[in-house]
Amino acid sequence: MSSIQEEIDKRKTFGIISHPDAGKTTLTEKFLLYGGAIQTAGAVKSNKIKKSATSDFMEIERQRGISVATSVMSFEYDGRIVNLLDTPGHKDFAEDTYRTLTAVDSVIIVVDCVKGVEEQTQKLMEVCRMRNTPVIVFINKLDREGKDPYDLLDEIEEKLKIKVHPLSWPINRGSLFKGVYNIHKKYLNLFRAGSQKVEEESLSIHDLSVKELDIEVGEQDANKLREDIELIEGVYGSLNKQDYLDGTIAPVFFGSAINNFGVKELLESFLELAPTPGSRPTDKGDVFPTDKDFSGFIFKIHANLDPKHRDRIAFLRVCSGKFERNKFFYQVRTKKNTKFSSPFSFLASAKNIVDEAYPGDVIGLYDTGNFKIGDTLTEGKDFNFQGIPSFSPELFKELVNTDPMKTKQLEKGIQQLTDEGVAQLFTHELGNKKIVGVVGDLQFEVIQYRLQHEYKASCMFQPISLHKACWITSDNKAKMDEFCRVKYQYIYKDKDGNIVFLAESAWVLNVARENYPEIEFHTTSEFKTKQKA
Ligand code: G4P
Repeated sequence: MSSIQEEIDKRKTFGIISHPDAGKTTLTEKFLLYGGAIQTAGAVKSNKIKKSATSDFMEIERQRGISVATSVMSFEYDGRIVNLLDTPGHKDFAEDTYRTLTAVDSVIIVVDCVKGVEEQTQKLMEVCRMRNTPVIVFINKLDREGKDPYDLLDEIEEKLKIKVHPLSWPINRGSLFKGVYNIHKKYLNLFRAGSQKVEEESLSIHDLSVKELDIEVGEQDANKLREDIELIEGVYGSLNKQDYLDGTIAPVFFGSAINNFGVKELLESFLELAPTPGSRPTDKGDVFPTDKDFSGFIFKIHANLDPKHRDRIAFLRVCSGKFERNKFFYQVRTKKNTKFSSPFSFLASAKNIVDEAYPGDVIGLYDTGNFKIGDTLTEGKDFNFQGIPSFSPELFKELVNTDPMKTKQLEKGIQQLTDEGVAQLFTHELGNKKIVGVVGDLQFEVIQYRLQHEYKASCMFQPISLHKACWITSDNKAKMDEFCRVKYQYIYKDKDGNIVFLAESAWVLNVARENYPEIEFHTTSEFKTKQKA
């Protein structure tokens, strides 16, 4: 029997983030190939791989080719357990990605060397920065005529606001791309375009002055590489691992995911450098993975993963101690003790029942509607993990039921979809008017589609002009009551019963704040951060 410490030391839990099309799915699949989680090399987009390996559980995603859902893929590599949390790249599902980033210990950012750092990557990096999440950058598509590698490094520093440290370096790019020199491990990987093999052709060159290098890549490129490496080593020195772990320096790797080039070195260096599960803040202080008692939180809820079952699946990140099957755990929000008879892991694509899980692991719990995103599970203690807030949505529409015979289905459907975090629901106390708030327009379509296909309810969304949703709190009950009376048309409740003011415009919000200084207007549901609108 291994100790909890040994189990923790084995685990790496991370996410891959990128702007859509930079190559996240391709890289993920190559990782899974190395991990033995899938067997089919090559043909990245073949349906076979897509079905078994990726997170594309939802039909809508297949239709649109956009990664809507977040999923988890676990595999073993070199004695380690790697938990890879997939994130939707599309900006309309950004909130889903933000929440997933609360459950990882580090991140790999994929950048397309042709396009450079794109907008969505910048936004996601901000979320990483909020938590000082360590990041490694993989510059992808070196087989294309991309930007100059030095320019890319500058662009990353400027746009992602993080210092970089190249740990590998390319020899040329595009049609002249010849390989990547691994500065970290001091060997050269030679590129054979179109090679779909898992193993790359590598050459150990500890001393770049050897003649072998000239023979392999030609004198001109050999000399250029020698100059580049000398310059890089002079500028960057050796990597200070602690800076990376503190989230202030990002190691950078180059490669071509589709050609399976530079992927193995990325994976191996990542496994060597990336942090094992660390401590996490709660409202009662930090929880450490080595704490004896189990604790964890729900960061995602997904309905109907398997069309044959109506159950929802709650994704639990284990933070401390040991999770055990059939043991009673305490759900802090509801104060209920629950045991789980069939928790499962995400090893490969098969869902395996697990008897135990350790810090860093993500397990799936079948749920009949008891969980909400952000719920904490413990061995009896009353504390809540922090940092899983709802943000004010940016787009609002009124949900209108178009089939009165299916009112119940619609109510249930919208409730469950909002519990999953697909959107936020605000309900007016009088008249039951429902406003749905989302981050991107596409989410309205997803909701409509899912309500129809999963709940057989039909609805439409009526445009409504709103600026922001603000959670309001006050120590002055009389003022709060007065405000709610005066603004009753715009006072709604979120799904947890918190009072929310839906402001029509920035001007209205400003006036409200001026007139009611006793009231606090928050743009996230996590009031403890005291973030003001
Ligand atoms: P994403 O998950 O970040 O959205 O990106 P994804 O992996 O789906 O890759 C986006 C496109 O980029 C795909 O092409 C993929 O084949 C291609 N790609 C990934 N890595 C590389 C690389 O190293 N070099 C080159 N040249 N292309 C790469 P697609 O045309 O959208 O799909 P498909 O027709 O290849 O299936």
